[in-house]
Amino acid sequence: MVLKLNKEKIIVTSALPYANGPIHLGHLSGAYLPADIFVRYNRLINSDIIYVCGSDEHGVPITLTADKEKLTPKDIIDRYHESNKAAFEKFGISFDIYSRTSIPTHHETAKDFFKSYYNQDILSEKKSLQFYDEKAGMFLPDRYVEGTCPKCGFEEARSDECEKCGALYDTSELLNPKSKISGSTPELKETSHWYFPLGKFQERLEKYMKEANEKFNWKSNVLQYCIGWFKDGLNDRAVTRDLDWGIKVPLDSAKGKVLYVWFEAVLGYISATKELFKQRGNEDGWREYWQGENTRYIAFIGKDNIVFHTIIFPAMLMAWNDGNNDKFILPENVPANEFLNFEGKKFSKSRGWGIDVEQFLKIFPTDSLRYALASNLPENKDTDFYWKEFQAKNNSELADILGNFVNRTFIFAKKHFDEKVPTRGELKKIDIDMLARIAEAPIKIGKLIESYKIRDAVFEMMSLARAGNKYFNDSEPWLSVKENKERAATTVNICLQTISTLAEVFSPVIPFSAEKIFKMLNVKIADWNESGKREFETNHQLNKSEILFNKIEDKTIEIEIMKWSNPASLEEEVEEEKVPEITFDDFLKVDLKVAEIISAEKVKKSKKLLKLQVKIGKFERQVVAGIAESYEPEELIEKKVIMVANLKPAKLFGIESQGMILAIEDESGKLNIVAVNASLNSGLKVR
Ligand code: 2FM
Ligand code: ZN
Repeated sequence: MVLKLNKEKIIVTSALPYANGPIHLGHLSGAYLPADIFVRYNRLINSDIIYVCGSDEHGVPITLTADKEKLTPKDIIDRYHESNKAAFEKFGISFDIYSRTSIPTHHETAKDFFKSYYNQDILSEKKSLQFYDEKAGMFLPDRYVEGTCPKCGFEEARSDECEKCGALYDTSELLNPKSKISGSTPELKETSHWYFPLGKFQERLEKYMKEANEKFNWKSNVLQYCIGWFKDGLNDRAVTRDLDWGIKVPLDSAKGKVLYVWFEAVLGYISATKELFKQRGNEDGWREYWQGENTRYIAFIGKDNIVFHTIIFPAMLMAWNDGNNDKFILPENVPANEFLNFEGKKFSKSRGWGIDVEQFLKIFPTDSLRYALASNLPENKDTDFYWKEFQAKNNSELADILGNFVNRTFIFAKKHFDEKVPTRGELKKIDIDMLARIAEAPIKIGKLIESYKIRDAVFEMMSLARAGNKYFNDSEPWLSVKENKERAATTVNICLQTISTLAEVFSPVIPFSAEKIFKMLNVKIADWNESGKREFETNHQLNKSEILFNKIEDKTIEIEIMKWSNPASLEEEVEEEKVPEITFDDFLKVDLKVAEIISAEKVKKSKKLLKLQVKIGKFERQVVAGIAESYEPEELIEKKVIMVANLKPAKLFGIESQGMILAIEDESGKLNIVAVNASLNSGLKVR
């Protein structure tokens, strides 16, 4: 069944970022800013377009962050979903929805896809050996195991891949494997998983890619990458994992297993669209965009996500279409970008390298960043963000070319034409040429954006501003205004029309400044097709002008350069940034009491744990505390400590723990219990 539509629809997606860290400039350059420019442009040409994104909230990256911060995955995703959503908004990314993969709609959608494959009998169940952590009682995902590389001897190699020498090996070949959770030696144990038959789709995928490329001209970096995959031959891919964080596999026989995060994350685009239309009160509206006969889908991503969007997701959609009446469209293009580096090095969350959006926008204006990134997008090769270049883009291009042209024109109009748009007189060649330039710029720029050549489009925008300045200079209105006011009026009229065109063509890139220009011009933004053709009414009144771009001083940029050449100062800042605020009521929920330790003993088979009996006033409690590497049991007797008395009981090594003792971890990793004055009675409340 194909939905019949009158008007073409377009759906644009940007990769769903993991909700386990802040959005940095590298993310923006890869998948968000180019998509936003494309979408904003399309809205101006009146396309029926929606732009969908959201947080990717499952998978090992999230559980690893949670473990590291001793929080739950839910704490992590809630924190980063909200902060990333806000950061995108501040950066002007104009999503129609920023959804999340933890919502029920998404769980249902992902399960439906799995069940459809299962019912079509295309999944196969296979057994394999995987590391199992006896102590933690769980199978270890690849990233939870570390060991010595069997090829080069690097001691921090991953379970199936060495970061140092690039070797790929079978998990069973890794030497001295260690669990990152408990530090113990994991054992290889048999487990079973469900596999999607990617190989069976290879021929159809190759045909799809060939046809899409012929029609829509895919980027060569994307094509080369896919051709490499096809050459190696596509293999079955496991679509389940042994983890407890994620979407439960909807089969009775698959207890303790979740869907592989990549398998469900790509479906997040569909569930986010469903959510969007639910919010719009049109539950089935999403289908027009995903399943209509006249709809197009474009997936913006960074290069690390190519295979998932050009091979795996299309194969998943094909497999759905094989077994269902409601058929999905496939991406017509996947304009993946390469990477943006930060001051010559790769952005790295774990090494704390690279400024994030929120930090950045506390210091510098959004449009300055949007322009600097857009004019340096890694469309064909990796590019770099350098502070000095950012300053130059702002000062020598935005301020000196665009800002200056707007400013000098407005000042002139105010001084000589009473802040009104003067009427044109007879046109000379110079004027006709400039008007032709204005008329062709939106067409040229539009074509570039439509073919994902955003960098070139931005270059053309600034070229138009350059041409505006040159026209002003060559026309010399400061001379003509004295001898032939009609000449000066013509120049100013055409300059103002150029400014209006500039605001229109620049608006997808620097929307906030474009808005200011429209306000100054006292007009509303025009459709793109009308851009360059604005006719001001006789004596159209202008509004007060304002400086659009302030120069960034050397001093300010040097502070940033200094900060980033001294990573220690950054670490402090990152740590401070991370802690979410709580309300006083939140704080009051924690029942902190003075407790007296009355006995302490080691927990058998555990290096870290001590079993303590404590007294809180008249009551006794048992607590299992992870302080055995920092204290001998006897040192603790009669110590008065602070305890979280209303913590939900939990079992550790089979022993019930009915609270938690506060301790401070110092730089060496030693835990120091928070001891209080021995004269204080146990049971007293801490507030
Ligand atoms: O690389 C990432 O950040 C992934 N979370 C991207 C997922 S894109 C899509 F599948 F949702
Ligand atoms: Zn190696």
